[in-house]
Amino acid sequence: MATPREIPWAELRAGARAASARSYAPYSGVRVGACALTEDGRVVTGSNVENASYGLTLCAECSLVSDLARTGGGRLVAVSVVAGDGGPLAPCGRCRQLLYEHGGRDLLVDQGEAGAPRALAALLPDAFGPEDVADRASR
Ligand code: THU
Repeated sequence: MATPREIPWAELRAGARAASARSYAPYSGVRVGACALTEDGRVVTGSNVENASYGLTLCAECSLVSDLARTGGGRLVAVSVVAGDGGPLAPCGRCRQLLYEHGGRDLLVDQGEAGAPRALAALLPDAFGPEDVADRASR
């Protein structure tokens, strides 16, 4: 069996906190940062970017998956998302789906001091993913 990989949680949390300082959140005041480790050892980050048309707001995880694509793509292995107070923030429903696309059910999501990291499968059970699109298409 493969040895479980050592996740640099302290580095991911620090990256998420640094990213939260770059957030653009003049409307909610909730400054969010996200930082993730990729399978090939890269670290990618994102911050939330709000908009005067509130519904157009981009969550930090949206920005993170853009960074992932921009820097070469690949799979996410572990992610930390924090608010401006430095504490962990549970990814919203839409972002769980976004993370699922790029990390799948085994992606580890930081819970900070609240407990051990949780697999995305626990946060988004019975997820609909890329394989379902291929399986369920009527052609
Ligand atoms: N937000 C994120 O960036 N990620 C989440 O998973 C939850 C919410 C942001 C969006 C908005 O700018 C602010 O937090 C308040 O909802």
